[in-house]
Amino acid sequence: MSEPTTALVTGANKGIGYEIAAGLGALGWSVGVGARDDQRREAAVEKLRAAGVDAFGVPLDVTDDASATAAARLIEEQAGRLDVLVNNAGITGGMPQEPTRVDPATIRTVVETNVIGVIRVTNAMMPLLRRSASPRIVNMSSSVGSLTRQSGTAGEQTTGPVAVAYAPSKTFLNAVTLQYARELSGTNILVNAGCPGFVATDLNGFRGVRTPEQGAAIAIRLATLPDDGPTGTFFEDAGVVPW
Ligand SMILES: NC(=O)c1ccc[n+]([C@@H]2O[C@H](COP(=O)([O-])OP(=O)(O)OC[C@H]3O[C@@H](n4cnc5c(N)ncnc54)[C@H](OP(=O)(O)O)[C@@H]3O)[C@@H](O)[C@H]2O)c1
Repeated sequence: MSEPTTALVTGANKGIGYEIAAGLGALGWSVGVGARDDQRREAAVEKLRAAGVDAFGVPLDVTDDASATAAARLIEEQAGRLDVLVNNAGITGGMPQEPTRVDPATIRTVVETNVIGVIRVTNAMMPLLRRSASPRIVNMSSSVGSLTRQSGTAGEQTTGPVAVAYAPSKTFLNAVTLQYARELSGTNILVNAGCPGFVATDLNGFRGVRTPEQGAAIAIRLATLPDDGPTGTFFEDAGVVPW
């Protein structure tokens, strides 16, 4: 029997991340449940296992170098390699975020998690991803980071409220996604960004209109791209999201 495909989903204890883990688990994959809180992580692992998923807990705070290094070590011991990394963990930093009133500390905190956290975890996992036959990196972005959609007429703007920390953090993440795709072009590693749509989760006080399962679909699609699939793209369920 061949080894199962192994994935790591960051921020997988709840919301969209949990459903990404469930969806990848339903494919028969072994899924690392990345989460910073011990109790929330173990509860999610138990729930996934009860649903038949081959889940294992991965203590991971994406803002912490030592935590990312330890997570890579754990996955190396568990699986010896990593096939798919889904960088899902994210925060808004709290609303409102009006540019003229924002506390610069909010910007720093959001970028540390949503952007630097992705770079930190990706680079910690890179040696394990390079051992995979078909490595995939999926970054959970948001269409609120689309400059095209933000700069449209008011009627075209489907990008949420003015939010000077959260929205630009996703623009930054999109640019980072492209930089990785450019460096890794010519390798078998595909790096893409996805937007889940407006999903009812803790992130927005459950005001979203889609279910977490619906929000997870784009990440699952990008995690399961064929070897000749795209890299350096930004997709939502309906198709390409303009940068
Ligand atoms: N919901 C939407 O409408 C929407 C739209 C577009 C994009 N997104 C993106 O989708 C992703 C998932 O969001 P969600 O809606 O599912 O939000 P959520 O329910 O609030 O879940 C966020 C997850 O990220 C984790 N997290 C936050 N900071 C972390 C850190 N430093 N280290 C490790 N984990 C951390 C949280 O863990 P704790 O439980 O420990 O806090 C939680 O598991 C985010 O990147 C978000 O920006 C969401």
